[in-house]
This record gives sequence, C-alpha cells and structure tokens, in this order.
Amino acid sequence: MKPTVYITRKLPDEIIAKVEKHCDVRMWEEMDKPVPYEVLEKEIEYIDGLFCLLTESVDKALLDKAKQLKVISNMAVGYNNIDIDAAKEKGITVTNTPGVLTETTADLTFALLMTTARRLVEASDFLKNGKWQSWSPMQLTGQDIYGATIGIIGMGRIAASLAKRAKGFDMNILYYNRSRKFSLEKELSMQYTELEDLLKRSDFVCIMTPYTPDTKNMIAAKELAFMKKTAILINTARGGIVNEEDLYKALTAKSIWAAGLDVFEEEPISIYHRLLTLDNVVAVPHIGSASIKTRLKMAELAADNLLLALHNQTPKHVVV
Ligand code: GLV
Repeated sequence: MKPTVYITRKLPDEIIAKVEKHCDVRMWEEMDKPVPYEVLEKEIEYIDGLFCLLTESVDKALLDKAKQLKVISNMAVGYNNIDIDAAKEKGITVTNTPGVLTETTADLTFALLMTTARRLVEASDFLKNGKWQSWSPMQLTGQDIYGATIGIIGMGRIAASLAKRAKGFDMNILYYNRSRKFSLEKELSMQYTELEDLLKRSDFVCIMTPYTPDTKNMIAAKELAFMKKTAILINTARGGIVNEEDLYKALTAKSIWAAGLDVFEEEPISIYHRLLTLDNVVAVPHIGSASIKTRLKMAELAADNLLLALHNQTPKHVVV
C-alpha cells in the first residue's frame, strides 16, 4: 500500500506528480491561503507524511493527534514553526531545505540593504507621485554602502554568502556568532566581535541567526540604543528576533536611521502596523528565497526528503 501524504499548499504540478508517483496525496488546493489549523488537525490523524510550509504551526497538540506520522518535510530552511522536541519524542523525522536557497537569500538581503540605504522605494514613489519638481542637492540622500562597516549577527551559510557580497563592496565586515569561523575570517578579512561592539561600530546591522528561545527579542531597546544614529537594521531571518515595538520607537526617535525588513513577528504583518507608516522602513513580504529557480529547488528538495523518509531511507537534510 502506498503511504499517505498531506501537502499543505498547492505546489507546482511537477512536484505534485513526483510525490503522487509514490504516495496517495491529499492537498490544500489554495495557492495564497494557508490551510486552517482545524483542517490540519483532521488530516494529520491518518497520514504518514506531511509536506508543509513555514506558515503552518506544527505544535505538540497537533502532533498528539497524529496516529502514524513518520515524517514532516518543511519547505524552508528555518523550522521554528515546528515543535522539534515533540516530534523527536514521538520518533517523527523532521526535514528542511538548506543550501539551495543560500545565494538567493543573500542576494535579497544585500538588495534590501541597498534599497534601504539609498531610499529606493521612497525615491520611486516620489517620482511616480509627481513630486519631482527639480534635481536638488540634498534630495533623497541616503547612506553610503561602499566601504562602510557591516555587522552580521549569526554566521551560517546565508550569512557567509552575505559577507562575500559585502567584501565585493570593500566593506569592513564584523560578525557575532556562537562559534568563531576562523577560515571565513581569513578568507573575507572578517573580524569577530561581541554583540555590543558590533552594534556600536556597524553602519549596517544584518540579522542572520536562527529563531530560537535564545534569540527571541535579541535586538530590543538596549541593543538598538547601542547602534549609531546613521545605522540601518536589516532583518531577513525571523521577525521575533527583533522587538518591533522597540524598533518602532528607535526609528521614530531617529536613534537609528532606517530598517529593511523581510520578516515580522506576525506574518502577514497587518497593513495597519505602525512600522509600515514610517518612510524609513522598507518592508517586503518574506521573499528572501523567492526566485523561481530557488523556490522550485526547495519544493523538489522537500519532496525528496519526504519520499526518502517514507521509504525508510535517510533524507538529504534531517533536523531530527
Ligand atoms: C525562509 O524563511 C526559510 O526559512 O526558508
């Protein structure tokens, strides 16, 4: 008998076909709407495999309902949406999709840094809204990127790729991480610093660390107060790492210069959220890995992980 699988979002046809070849598949057919928790609660009871996205909260209560679940394949590198301890306790394999999205996410991070520093969104709106009357000396002036100091919090794969882009712009690169990365330090002339030192010295502070109980609210009022008045905060990791209320206060008090955000404490962020009212915030809807090629690779890898686990083989990327 084929294993049964639930897929929590409409995927590209070729990926569905690949899974259907080996499994009985049920799927949430919507493209842009997540599956309601109550639906997932029913579906999870009798499935062997779950293919899910970071929009699904796979918590202990949900896992308690699963009678025969063997594998949860998350189509993301981050897995903070899944209760890993509960899965481990129940002997359920959890897989993720690192590697394939590294360069794409580093591209977006650097793009967001440049967009925020040079006020591209504001400038484009200014022109399109008919406000451009004349070239003028200090109009829409931003911050320099070339030769500036970038401070990277976390030094995993994506952070290292971001550092390579920074090196191309002759930036002075600082990083803070749980462990030292000596060969990268050498390769990229990068300097390890404590967090406080990094915050004080950087023109750009980029958050690239996983979201865990330890990193929740890692950047709050005290940390923001260390940053330069001209500094820019970039977050393409997870929203909960930054305290949004404190960030709003720092931005309105002009104690930091701007923020570029791809991720939010709650997603989707409400369009009425105060952060979105600020000109010095560039906000995009969690698109770090969103290139066509990369999203297809992520879906493919998540499907491979799922099928390998269901066939009692070791998936390519196992979390637990
Ligand atoms: C995206 O945020 C991911 O974790 O893949």
